[in-house]
Formats: sequence, C-alpha cells, structure tokens
Amino acid sequence: MRVLVTGGAGFIGANFVLRTLATRPDATLTVLDKFTYAANPSTLESVADRVDVVRGDIADAALVDRLVAETDLVVNFAAESHNDNSLADPSVFVQTNLVGTYTLLEAVRRHGVRLHHVSTDEVYGDLDLNDPVRFTESTAYNPSSPYSATKAGSDLLVRAWVRSFDVAATLSNCSNNYGPYQHIEKFIPRQITNVLTGIRPKLYGDGRNVRDWIHVDDHNDAVWAIIDRGRLGETYLIGADGEVDNRTVVQQILTLLDHPADAFDFVTDRPGHDRRYAIDPTRLRTELGWTPTYTDFAAGLAATVDWYRTHREWWAPHKDAVESGYSATQQTLD
Ligand code: NAD
Ligand code: TYD
Repeated sequence: MRVLVTGGAGFIGANFVLRTLATRPDATLTVLDKFTYAANPSTLESVADRVDVVRGDIADAALVDRLVAETDLVVNFAAESHNDNSLADPSVFVQTNLVGTYTLLEAVRRHGVRLHHVSTDEVYGDLDLNDPVRFTESTAYNPSSPYSATKAGSDLLVRAWVRSFDVAATLSNCSNNYGPYQHIEKFIPRQITNVLTGIRPKLYGDGRNVRDWIHVDDHNDAVWAIIDRGRLGETYLIGADGEVDNRTVVQQILTLLDHPADAFDFVTDRPGHDRRYAIDPTRLRTELGWTPTYTDFAAGLAATVDWYRTHREWWAPHKDAVESGYSATQQTLD
C-alpha cells in the first residue's frame, strides 16, 4: 500500500512514519511536509533511505494533485497546531488548516483516493471541571480558539466532501498527545526542558485545567485501526482515559527530575483557555477493538522525561527562541 503522510515531519506524523515502518512492511511511505518551524528535519534522518520526503505545502494544488495521483491512501497530519500561536497570528491557521484540507479533498476526489483526516477533540470546546460528561462522536462542535475553529472547519469540509462527492474518508478526533519528538513549545516538553535547563515550569492561570493525555503511539495505532476497519464517512474519537490537571503533570515532572514538587511559577493565563477536555472512546473500543498500550500515565510520562533527558541535541538548539517568544507575552504572577 502506498501511503502519503502529510505533516509527516511533525510530532504525531513522524511518530506515525516511524511506527508504520516498524510494524507494516507492506506500506511504502511518502511524506509531504512544508517543514515549518514545527518540523525537525533530524527526526526522520534515521529512516531517510526508507521514506520519500517531499518538501511542500498541502495548499499547493499542483503538487498535491501529482502526489495524490500516485498513492492509495492519504493520512493528513499537516496543520498549524499550537493554540498560543493561533492567538498571536491566526492567518496561517486559516491557510493551512482550511485551504490546505480543501486542496487535499479536491485531489482525493479527483483521483478516487482514500483519506484519513486527523483532528482534535478541541473542536468540541471545553467541559466544566466537575461535569461527569465526556465528548462523544455526537457532541456539538463549539471551538474556542482560532486553532480549534480552523480544525473544526477542516472536519466539516471533510464531512461535506463525503456526503456531496462520495469521497472515501474517515476522521478521528484525538485528545492531547505526549511522547518523543514533540515540539518544545507544547506543555509537557516545555516543562521537561525548562527543568533540564534551570528554568522553573510555567503554569497558565490556576494550573487546574484538565487535559486527557494519550501516548502518541496509542493515537497512531488507533489511526491504523480506523484505516483498516473503520466505516467510511465516520468519525472516531480517540482517547485513553488519561485525565490529569496541569498542576499535577508539572509536579510529576519536577519529582521525576529530582526537584521539589512546588518549584514552579504561575504565569498569565491564555485568553479563552479551555478548562477541560475528556474523551469517551467507547465507539473505537467496541467497534474496532482498539485498546491503549500506555494505560499508566505516570509511566508514560517517566519514559518521555527520559527521552528528552537523553536527546538534548534534538531540542536544545531551539530552547532559547521558544522561551523568548513566550516571555514577550507571559508575565510571572506572584
Ligand atoms: P506539529 O505542529 O508537531 O506538526 C505539524 C506538521 O505539519 C509539521 O511538520 C509542519 O511542518 C507541517 N505543516 C504545517 N503546515 C503545513 C503545510 N501547509 N503543508 C505541509 N505541511 C505542513 O503537530 P502535531 O502535534 O504533530 O499534530 C498533527 C495533527 O494532529 C494536527 O492536525 C493536529 O491538529 C492533530 N492533533 C494533535 C494533537 C496533539 O496533542 N498534538 C492532538 C489531537 C490532534
Ligand atoms: P498545550 O500543550 O498548548 O495543548 P492544548 O492547548 O492544545 O491543550 O497546553 C496543554 C495545557 O497546558 C493547556 O491547559 C495550557 C497549559 N499550558 C501551561 O499551563 N503552560 C505552558 O507553558 C503551556 C505551553 C501550556
């Protein structure tokens, strides 16, 4: 099977490439990636002889048409993915997440190629901390940020192309991922690399916001389960029952790195900051038989801390730039 992995040099896409090479000998992989600031070229270096890497934009219709014509399946991971950046400059989010997805849809429609579209649970907005409710496939879309709004729009484009043009597509909306090769702008790797470089971890607001953490390998196994066994036109929510509040995550990171558990700072809150996300993954488990491997978040976090501790060369060259970007907008609170 020929697979075109868009955004395959980013965090989840690169892990998908590495895992697919290790587990699916029948797959031939091409990566299409714009290599924005979010892509680290060294991530795929060890497999450079086994993957065809094309540097380009998913909104480039001619390039996308040529690549889609030569593949059996497109898995779309390409996106602008960081909420904080979407608040500073939404324009590239509209361009990549909406126009880019539209461009892919027109190409798969023309060539009759199967698409799996990777999305986020943030399209559903947020939940109260004490609400027993979790997101399901029938929860109404209610995105809060430019990032989640453009992801929501991209999902709706995919659904419309399925209904109107019979495009063979599936969708997945996953909760927050953690694991190796995640950009250090994101919460968990930012705090790990803060501690490793002598900076105190930074919590937004009161630090009580909850995210539903899933290991990136569990996410990617679920994506393959949907590609293999999912029903065309359907959406599947992906989550691993991993709800933890941000303050607890920071305390666990500090403890794992032998620092006092209270050695963190509170900083200015993110505008519009979603309070809580939580996924009900019943459909994925019962219909497709998927179960997560990483059921112990503390163990998965420890392995991730260890990965960043032993792969400084991967992230250290970018640390100063990421932190000076943040310090322009975030003040430490007393
Ligand atoms: P990432 O920012 O680490 O990687 C995105 C990749 O897309 C980068 O390699 C970047 O260069 C590439 N890209 C950006 N614009 C492009 C364009 N116009 N054309 C081609 N390539 C482009 O993001 P990620 O965390 O790996 O997320 C991947 C997907 O999964 C996104 O669609 C995101 O919405 C979704 N998702 C992420 C999470 C999470 O916790 N990170 C959770 C659920 C869903
Ligand atoms: P993030 O990794 O940006 O993912 P998302 O916004 O898509 O959930 O942030 C995860 C949570 O951590 C979110 O509640 C915001 C919070 N956060 C901090 O408290 N401090 C930080 O430095 C960052 C980057 C995020």
